[in-house]
Amino acid sequence: MSDSLVKVRSLVKHFKLEPKGLFDAPPVLRAVDGIDFDVQRGETLGLVGESGCGKSTTARLVLRLIEPTSGSITLDGVDVLATSKKELMALRREMQIVFQDPLSSLNPRMSVGTSIAEPLRFHRIADKVERFDLARRYLEIVGLSKDYYDRLPHEFSGGQNQRVAIARALILQPKLLILDEPVSALDVSIRAQVLRLLIDVQAEFGLTYIFISHDLSVVKRVCNRTAVLYLGKIVEIAESERLYREPLHPYSQALIRAIPEANPDGPRADSLAGIEGDVPSPVNPPQGCRFHTRCPHRMPVCTEKEPPLMEAGDGHKVACFLHQEAADHSDGQ
Ligand SMILES: Nc1ncnc2c1ncn2[C@@H]1O[C@H](COP(=O)(O)OP(=O)(O)OP(=O)(O)O)[C@@H](O)[C@H]1O
Ligand SMILES: [Mg+2]
Repeated sequence: MSDSLVKVRSLVKHFKLEPKGLFDAPPVLRAVDGIDFDVQRGETLGLVGESGCGKSTTARLVLRLIEPTSGSITLDGVDVLATSKKELMALRREMQIVFQDPLSSLNPRMSVGTSIAEPLRFHRIADKVERFDLARRYLEIVGLSKDYYDRLPHEFSGGQNQRVAIARALILQPKLLILDEPVSALDVSIRAQVLRLLIDVQAEFGLTYIFISHDLSVVKRVCNRTAVLYLGKIVEIAESERLYREPLHPYSQALIRAIPEANPDGPRADSLAGIEGDVPSPVNPPQGCRFHTRCPHRMPVCTEKEPPLMEAGDGHKVACFLHQEAADHSDGQ
């Protein structure tokens, strides 16, 4: 029986851009263009895809840091988009985010201990002494000494600052943690340690993660399921193990083929072997299947119709006409 913490349905975010001429209509950038996914309690769902495909926009929408154009999002049964400002404040305690660059998310003049305690102060939780004690405890939880409380971010390495950012996200005891490229800015040598920490605190606190990364070898290691995005759409979603073993969408196949197994540093999804051209503009995405302009298996139908995300068995879904028959068969069962 599924137990979804997060449910996203038909989520759309169109950004209106500045019109070119005085009398032109503003162009619309389709950053997220109708996506559906669930995140099960306690799992890590990976979001992967080339730069600009809508990963961070999806994260910001789920947290309601930006308003969607349309669609619905629920967190633990609560309609995130229908909440009042006050209810949203309370809801924000339950969902936190860690960004790629810890320095840009920490106040350079604030001690790391004060930064970690700041969300408690903001939400008026605990008194000053308790906040101090809790921040020291969370320093230890993320593998730093509690005596580092008074240090400033510039006295720390990137990995240590990312641990501080993780402590600050954890101190409110959220249900959902969104990790947007959490190790991409770190030295290769410390990435594994920070990933280990994330895996450990997930188990300890029963957290649910949405894990965004360019680095498919990392996603393979930490995510239970993975969704592949292309130009604002999910083109494939499956158990990570299955997706990596048997990707069905030509785009996922190219991404996965590009992972050098022997290279723990991992590839970036923006260097795609065997796939022609660049990602088209999200202002003017191709008609039909958005991937058809780069797809080595393009068929006439792909330029005419947009493939829906179709069930290919055991929760593995793919948006590709090559798999229509399998999907029809799976539906008929
Ligand atoms: N505030 C905004 N106004 C206009 N366009 C935006 C805005 N925010 C994002 N976009 C555009 O939306 C698209 C998706 O951006 P997003 O940041 O979600 O991509 P991403 O998948 O996170 O990419 P990356 O891997 O580079 O972080 C991009 O084309 C981006 O330029
Ligand atoms: Mg991003």
